Amino acid sequence: MPLLKIVHYPEPVLLAVGKPVGDGSFANGFRHTVEDMFETMYAAGGVGLAAPQVGSSQRFFVMDVPLENGEPNKLVFANPEILHVEGEQVGDEGCLSFPGLYQQVKRDMRVIVRAQDVAGNEFEMDLDGLAARCVLHETDHCDGIVFLDRMTVLKREMAKRKIRHLKKTGKWE
Ligand code: NI
Repeated sequence: MPLLKIVHYPEPVLLAVGKPVGDGSFANGFRHTVEDMFETMYAAGGVGLAAPQVGSSQRFFVMDVPLENGEPNKLVFANPEILHVEGEQVGDEGCLSFPGLYQQVKRDMRVIVRAQDVAGNEFEMDLDGLAARCVLHETDHCDGIVFLDRMTVLKREMAKRKIRHLKKTGKWE
């Protein structure tokens, strides 16, 4: 299966609110799309990848934040909805649509999310730490929000300067 092309900021699809995944999609080919997304994410060395990042304006994402014992943990979240958040974590964040850019972002420490799985079945999940950070980052992608929007003004200006530099030196297309 060929890998999907990951689009880079500021592609308009990254800044648009995705369409909900409909019942028809779950019945038809969604599983294949999801497998392509996982392959693309693993090949790029990411822990999360949302549909808009491969040019598809839809509200779903895949993620694999390994468990504490190192086992993979492949998860699909379609039509994600954040039900509850609490606490706070500050840490460096990256994004496959912002190659080479890592910047500090403040996120909630714990999140309860409701979504649909690859078959369209609804589930709720309670996550914290890196998994919570990832769910928040990827749910943002589904809503046309990028991590630049979650930085402090100062960090955002630093990030934009870095992006300009990366573009000028041909490290960002
Ligand atoms: Ni991202």
